[in-house]
This record gives sequence, structure tokens and C-alpha cells, in this order.
Amino acid sequence: MSGDIAEVLITEREIEARIAELGAQISADYRGKDPVLVGVLRGVFMFMADLVRHITIPISVDFIGITRYGPSTRTHGVVRFVKDLEIVIENRHVLFVEDVIDTGLSLRYILNSLETRSPVSLRICTLFNKPRIRLFDLDVAYTGFVLPAKFVVGYGLDYDERYRNLPFVGVLRDSAITQQRLPSNT
Ligand code: IMP
Ligand code: MG
Repeated sequence: MSGDIAEVLITEREIEARIAELGAQISADYRGKDPVLVGVLRGVFMFMADLVRHITIPISVDFIGITRYGPSTRTHGVVRFVKDLEIVIENRHVLFVEDVIDTGLSLRYILNSLETRSPVSLRICTLFNKPRIRLFDLDVAYTGFVLPAKFVVGYGLDYDERYRNLPFVGVLRDSAITQQRLPSNT
């Protein structure tokens, strides 16, 4: 499987060190606030698991599931919740945890929905950020790494549901890209 990787962009060790920093920062910023960390399945599972182990204050964790569909699932599709939060976020501090922000389309949709539930605060933490010209203005409070504008896999990120279990982030070899289709779901 790692033979399908053309180039490792971020090593396991670099990811681990950066997440420790993010965890320390979040612990300091949210002290006494009992925040809810909200992630979108499935790409964020690995980051969420590692991040919370570096957070030293009381927190809650919950997940939502979305699916994107439409003419171009990557950028123009409609976003629909397939799993909603179980925790009530009204009057809570919410930290939205993302694996990667690309166009920001799915994130914008989700944030709009969460905002209607009257959290005290709603901020974004993403492990990877792509320097795209965004369709939406997003204020990202915590960023792990800025990635090149390339499609990457590993550390939770998939290509057609594969490679999520790689402990590092890399770019696929052309030979591993069997279809032109990019993943339509998170
Ligand atoms: P956005 O709505 O364009 O910001 O898309 C964000 C979602 O697209 C992420 O949650 C990922 O599921 C997926 N995605 C974006 N870039 C990549 C990538 O480089 N590799 C794997 N998945 C990606
Ligand atoms: Mg995906």
C-alpha cells in the first residue's frame, strides 16, 4: 500500500508533534469552558483520536456524518446530514474539528447548520488547510499544516475509501489512480 505513494509530504512524527502543540493550545484557550469538539466522519477519526489525547481539560466529543451529491460531487453538490449530533450544543462552546479544508463548501454548510443551534462560540480547527481561493470566507482558528494544492491521502484521508490507515500524508502515484473520479464523501 505505501508502494502506491509517490511522495511523503508530512511524516508520522511531524504530525504527532504538531498535534501535541494544537492540543496544548486548545487546552489553554478553552480552560474552564467545557467545549464540545465536533468532527465530520469519516476522514477526521484519526486526527480527533490523537488530538483529544493531547487535550488536558474536560471536553465532550461528538460526530456528524454528511454526504455530498449532485452533478459534481466534489465542488457543486448538495450536502446532506446522514448522522446528526447527539449532544445539544446550545449554550456550549463548540470547536469544529476538520481533517482537511479544500474549497470549504462542506464546512460552510455544516457551520451554518450548527450556528442555528445557538452555541456560545463556534470555531474551526483543521489539521490540513489547502491554500485555495475559497468560495467562502472561513475564519480558521487552528491550522496544523498548510498543504500544497494537491490531492493527498493518509492519516484519515482517502482515495476511494483506501489509504486512510497510512500513518503519514502523501501523494499517490499516477499508477494508483485507477479512476478519474475523486471521493464523493468525507
Ligand atoms: P471541501 O468541501 O472542498 O473543503 O472538501 C473537504 C473534504 O473533501 C474533506 O473533508 C475531505 O473528505 C475531502 N478532501 C479534500 N481534499 C482532499 C485530499 O487531498 N485528499 C482526500 N480527501 C480530500
Ligand atoms: Mg473523503
